[in-house]
Amino acid sequence: MTKKEESKMATAPVLDTSATESGEKLPWKVVQCPHEWDVTRPEIYVEDRWHPIFKEMREQAPINKVEGSGFGSFWNVTTLKAIQHVEALPDIYSSSFEHGGITLVDDEALDEPIPEDERIVMPMFIAMDRPKHTEERRVIAPAFTPGEMERMATDIRRRTGELLDSLPVGTAFDWVDKVSIELTTQMLALLFDFPWEDRRLLTEWSDWAGDVELFRTEETRKARLAKMFEMGAYFQRLWDERKNRGEAPDLISRMIHSPMKDMNQFEYMGNLILLIVGGNDTTRNSMSGYAYGLHSFQDEREKLEKNPELIPNAVSEVIRWQTPLAHMRRTALKDHDLFGAPIKAGDKIGMWYLSANRDETVFDNPDKLIVDRENARRHLSFGYGIHRCVGARLAELQIRVLLEEMAKRRLRPNVVAEPIRVAGCFVHGYRSMDVELTKY
Ligand code: HEM
Repeated sequence: MTKKEESKMATAPVLDTSATESGEKLPWKVVQCPHEWDVTRPEIYVEDRWHPIFKEMREQAPINKVEGSGFGSFWNVTTLKAIQHVEALPDIYSSSFEHGGITLVDDEALDEPIPEDERIVMPMFIAMDRPKHTEERRVIAPAFTPGEMERMATDIRRRTGELLDSLPVGTAFDWVDKVSIELTTQMLALLFDFPWEDRRLLTEWSDWAGDVELFRTEETRKARLAKMFEMGAYFQRLWDERKNRGEAPDLISRMIHSPMKDMNQFEYMGNLILLIVGGNDTTRNSMSGYAYGLHSFQDEREKLEKNPELIPNAVSEVIRWQTPLAHMRRTALKDHDLFGAPIKAGDKIGMWYLSANRDETVFDNPDKLIVDRENARRHLSFGYGIHRCVGARLAELQIRVLLEEMAKRRLRPNVVAEPIRVAGCFVHGYRSMDVELTKY
């Protein structure tokens, strides 16, 4: 792929404000729990039966309010256009941790509510509004420019190739552990210049940090907190070591030497967690989604094997089809008419990317992974607007290189048993997946 094409792949679409101008309305309604439309229930993801639930919402009331769930009351926004609209209005729909942050977890609605003095907030720029968000994003963004991608590409290809050459052919192994986790964790270790032999700690911390289910009980909350302290102490050591080392391209040094002199220790830690979780679960689950998705649609797998030039498009399609983060949350700062739905100040909004990416008014036959889908790049897996994923280019590069190196070796991943899926409404992916490689 040329540099221009590569840069195009990660460019944010232009903000769409046409809906406000046209005064367009959508059906909306309010439902009480227990209700099928409570899509915060972990079982619908672990049992992979969320598709008809979101489809019904898109058909009957694309914007709807669920009252009394284990995560409190919240609005579901389920179509692509409506989500883009919310994301295009960041001054009305806040991401800030001060208003509750980016997941639907609700400290007060939980069966075992979190006492006020135990609510530890790690500020991170994904959960900040302008102008602070802009300022902190600027510190990180230079690590993900097309130039940086070019600098990293050779190394990513070499590491991916070496890993693939070490895998058994014809014997089952866990693809999630051996391929998806290993490749993404190596990448993060390089980005942070993290001690190589300890790199699996990054996976462990990321799993603990990104699991919204752990908030539900005091016991799991405390266990999570202990892990976060362990991570904090480790990174504190790295920070102290690097403070006097001078400028360097790793993300920790970038933060230390950033023009933002007042990034305090909590912000430093928060942003590290953001980068570890942001870059880990997501890319990992896209790599696993590639194996599972193409195994599920073997005609498409054959098409890709015969036409490797389709790989860049297939990368976008895998990311659409998998949708590694099921939702992001916003909180309304004032009353707002959202396509006719009466949003009130303080309301929580769940923007379900998982549903937007299956929106049949945008994607034909949306449940099928189609490697040459013309508008695959319209997916919302990376979000939209000012918070659109800063690591999108890097994620696409890693996944593209994996597909290209598989194709070069004519290797095909065959899924030999149903995967174990993540139980939770935030990270949408796989805990393990047994795969056998064959040559084609
Ligand atoms: C933001 C998805 C890979 C770092 C986001 C958002 C989504 C997302 C949905 C929030 C968008 C919003 O609120 O509008 C993904 C997916 C990935 C991926 C699906 C892989 C397929 C990465 C990687 C990194 C990363 C590799 C870094 C190593 C971040 C950061 C933000 C972010 C720092 C915050 C951006 C902001 O608030 O301005 N990502 N991400 N992500 N992502 Fe990613």
